[in-house]
Amino acid sequence: MVLRLQPLRGMGFLRKLFNKDTTTDVLELLTSQHSEMDELFAMLEKGEGNRAALFTELADMLAAHSTAEEKVFYPAIMSKDTEAKLQESVEEHLAIKRVLADLISMKLDDDMFVAKLKVLKEQVAHHAHEEEEKDLFPKVKDMFASHERAALGNEVLVMFEDLMLTHPYKTVPAETAFAAKLPPVTR
Ligand SMILES: [Fe+2]
Ligand SMILES: [Fe+2]
Repeated sequence: MVLRLQPLRGMGFLRKLFNKDTTTDVLELLTSQHSEMDELFAMLEKGEGNRAALFTELADMLAAHSTAEEKVFYPAIMSKDTEAKLQESVEEHLAIKRVLADLISMKLDDDMFVAKLKVLKEQVAHHAHEEEEKDLFPKVKDMFASHERAALGNEVLVMFEDLMLTHPYKTVPAETAFAAKLPPVTR
């Protein structure tokens, strides 16, 4: 299949800013973002660094990662084989956004913040590692050639980086009523 690429807006500037390679297998890119979020959860649990800055970074990453998956990755991989898993995935994103929205509205020293953060970590770990990495990604690897996964990775990365410049966590509370809409199956 042929993937339609978005124009790579402002890539030179963003490449310098983020210092990353422009050719990235989408599955490796998303997996490495999952690992970065794992590290942020671990640092927050251990009480390392600036708690407010770490939580803002985590919330921004979760928001940008989810949006890039919902708007670029999931639509591109929709098929008879992945449809049920993708429907489950957007419902899991919704559950994650609801807990994240609660945390965004709380003070960092609220008694329930630590407990709620632990629930968020467990939900994200289940969705990212069990549902996506173990189940969905192997299906995608079988469906697409490496150059197609790289093209999709670039598209996901452009959206992710553009969003990260805007504090995307701010839109999360407005995304807690319904799961993201997926396109119909065409193959
Ligand atoms: Fe996801
Ligand atoms: Fe993911």
